[in-house]
Amino acid sequence: MKAVLPLPDDTPVLEIRDLHKAYGELEVIKGVDIMAHRGDVVSLIGSSGSGKSTILRCANLLEDSQQGEILFKGEPVSWKGTGHGRHPADPKQVLRIRTNLSMVFQQFNLWAHMTILQNVMEAPLTVLGRDRAEVEKSARHYLDKVGIGDKCDVYPAQLSGGQQQRAAIARALCMEPEALLFDEPTSALDPELEQEVIRVIKDLATEGRTMMIVTHDMKMAQDVSDHVVFLHQGKIEEEGAPDELFANPKTERLRGFLSATAH
Ligand SMILES: Nc1ncnc2c1ncn2[C@@H]1O[C@H](COP(=O)(O)OP(=O)(O)O)[C@@H](O)[C@H]1O
Ligand SMILES: [Mg+2]
Repeated sequence: MKAVLPLPDDTPVLEIRDLHKAYGELEVIKGVDIMAHRGDVVSLIGSSGSGKSTILRCANLLEDSQQGEILFKGEPVSWKGTGHGRHPADPKQVLRIRTNLSMVFQQFNLWAHMTILQNVMEAPLTVLGRDRAEVEKSARHYLDKVGIGDKCDVYPAQLSGGQQQRAAIARALCMEPEALLFDEPTSALDPELEQEVIRVIKDLATEGRTMMIVTHDMKMAQDVSDHVVFLHQGKIEEEGAPDELFANPKTERLRGFLSATAH
């Protein structure tokens, strides 16, 4: 086994350099650079179709990309081939990166036939091969943490959307990842249930978790982020600290986007 080298303080947990991604002829990511240092919360905002989900999916190698580098704790993804023939070269590296960048999806994606506890325990047991008793202890801990410790033995269909999403967050945490990637975690929820999920995300930010969050919720983006990236048609149109970016948008496009999303 390789020795784990200490991270120099300035090494980002996740760094994306000059990322390009096309679906066939359609180029949807056109040279994007994003980084998240340990403890950073980076939000990706922008209109539907601007490429936010694609960036997250490329970052944790659920999607191939044709150009650019993705570095996890300074370690570049090793590729074989080029252009549309470019794929990750090392399945072990893919697994390591993917399990360390735990994803939370808009639609929760819980297994309907498993209890909440089984859902949270599944990947640590089968993917990481961890000890069952330890995993159960840790699963119960994270379910408590997101406020649904009393729901261990029920099935997803018996929970509200907000509770299901909190279970999905507990499941992501139980992988003990280096960072969490959220793709519109509150979009499928009724407004009154959004808040309970936002509260959990805020708690995670406060405790110093590294997170990349795609969201349409500008208030959450402003409240939790250290850095906000505004995407337009696959490029970064504007980025910066949330207070500055939301108070003084520099580009016409961001001004237009913010006034269209204001309520
Ligand atoms: N599997 C796919 N096949 C073809 N085009 C796709 C696919 N997924 C996304 N796209 C296109 O890529 C662009 C970016 O999509 P996406 O990353 O989902 O945007 P966002 O998350 O910002 O709404 C859109 O034009 C979308 O239609
Ligand atoms: Mg999306």
